[in-house]
Amino acid sequence: MTDGTEAGRLREALARKTDEVEILREASTRINTTLNLERIQEIVLHTMHDLFRFTHALILLLDESEGTLRVVAGIGYPEDAIGAKVPVGTGVIGVVAARKKMMRVGHLGQKRLYAEAIRKEMRKARRREGTTPVPRIPGLPDAESQVAIPLLIGERLIGVFFVESAERLLFSERDENLVAIVANLCASAIHNALLYRQEERRAEALDRTVETRTLELQRTSQELTRVRELRTRETMRFDFDDLVGNSALLRETRAFLKKVAHSPSSTVLITGENGTGKDLAAKIVHFQSRRASAPFMNITCSAIAETLLESELFGHERGAFTGAVQQKKGLFELADGGSVFLDEIGEMSTALQAKLLRFLEEKTFKRVGGAHDLRVDVRIIAATNRDLKEMVRAGAFREDLFYRLRVLPVELAPLRRRPEDVAPLARLFVRRFRDEFAKEVEDLDAAALRLLESYPWPGNVRELRNAVERAVLLAEGRRLTALDFRSLTGGASESGDGKPDGVALPPGGLDFEQVEKNLVVQALERSRWNQAKAAKLLGMPRDWLRYRIQKFDLEPRDEG
Ligand SMILES: Nc1ncnc2c1ncn2[C@@H]1O[C@H](COP(=O)(O)OP(=O)(O)OP(=O)(O)O)[C@@H](O)[C@H]1O
Ligand SMILES: [Mg+2]
Repeated sequence: MTDGTEAGRLREALARKTDEVEILREASTRINTTLNLERIQEIVLHTMHDLFRFTHALILLLDESEGTLRVVAGIGYPEDAIGAKVPVGTGVIGVVAARKKMMRVGHLGQKRLYAEAIRKEMRKARRREGTTPVPRIPGLPDAESQVAIPLLIGERLIGVFFVESAERLLFSERDENLVAIVANLCASAIHNALLYRQEERRAEALDRTVETRTLELQRTSQELTRVRELRTRETMRFDFDDLVGNSALLRETRAFLKKVAHSPSSTVLITGENGTGKDLAAKIVHFQSRRASAPFMNITCSAIAETLLESELFGHERGAFTGAVQQKKGLFELADGGSVFLDEIGEMSTALQAKLLRFLEEKTFKRVGGAHDLRVDVRIIAATNRDLKEMVRAGAFREDLFYRLRVLPVELAPLRRRPEDVAPLARLFVRRFRDEFAKEVEDLDAAALRLLESYPWPGNVRELRNAVERAVLLAEGRRLTALDFRSLTGGASESGDGKPDGVALPPGGLDFEQVEKNLVVQALERSRWNQAKAAKLLGMPRDWLRYRIQKFDLEPRDEG
């Protein structure tokens, strides 16, 4: 479209220059937006095409260990050109790599003719051995001109950029400069992409290591659970007689536990206040049943977040949720043939209650994220200190599950309802702690026993055990006296923090429960129903306070 005049040629040249600048700018922006090696190569090659209308170009990357350059991308060549190798030092490409200097060759047709003529002459003279074989280098068989540019990062060669043409006899110096600009762009982009890829591989390898380690850890922890469980089984033989007590209530419970243990797999629901012996009863049921040689698995429902609890119970498949790097068996599977003790079942979410119900009814379950139904043979022993019936009424516990669980209901009465058990229990604990602390204590005197029998034991057997432990530890003589249990009657006297020892008993006696209730109400009101503060005011653990709030059926009065 030139008008032939000098001005016209100038205009045209200028337009072309602006074009070139545009193309280069565009290319550099696009290259800078990616770290993907293939994408970079594609952009570079297309830029070359747009700039010079070159139809043939190659990008080769150096393999330092092999001393070769490998074609990683090309334009204008058949597919199989990719992957072809050029030894460093061979051909235009190889020489450029060796010298790290750009090379421009032209009029190759003539040279080929010349070389062919020489070869012919040599063949004629039967001196064929003298010619070196022409290496198979990717490229046009009829190329007229070629430019090869080293891709350098500082002094380091990373590859070669190669352009050739069958039409042009020679690339101009201007072409060469442009190619050099693109090659520079190309070198740093490729370098970054390679670094990035290396980082990615490292990160992947690291991920894999983390995964294997997690797996190992999981295996070890499962193994540990198994070993611990085996040891419990070997060292702990829970017998019916371990449930100590002579009261009619306890004897009844013991007799019922025998029946429960001999039943093969019916679900057991153990209820009772804190410290009444629910854990103990559950272990007795398992270890006295025909399941004794199989695992006894134990989980406290309130101690674990809901989603984790589900996977603890049912297990999960690999990838079921973040962190589920490996398939994991749940307690039901691990306990196959044995028993699973679900403690504090009242704290289980209603969603999980539904899944537990399905398991109890169909004896099958799915791992979290799993598709297959699994079947195991386990006995469920559940326990709670909550009033499940009340929870059912309040809608907090599924009624169907409640009835499904209490096929064999075991009720452990609070210690205050069976004071006859206090003496044998206290004596049991005296023996236990005497041995543990290597003390001389042999028994309790009558006054001590009377005191213990009249105490209400809100923390039940556990509280009694703790009281005896403390008394044995601090005891001086061979018999524990009421004085050794003074912390039960008025712990305040020992604290030395200015609180009164107690209130004097009026001549006509008093209604102890009423006094107690009064004090509790006062403390609650003074602390504005902050139970922690109220418990502190009363010098009692929060559990005791909570127990009393329940016992007296106390509720905050509406102040508004
Ligand atoms: N009848 C009993 N004979 C002997 N020891 C008992 C008896 N009842 C409870 N114990 C002992 O009292 C302590 C508390 O019992 P356990 O842990 O079984 O109570 P729990 O009802 O499970 O309590 P929590 O509701 O707090 O879980 C344990 O050391 C247990 O061995
Ligand atoms: Mg318990």
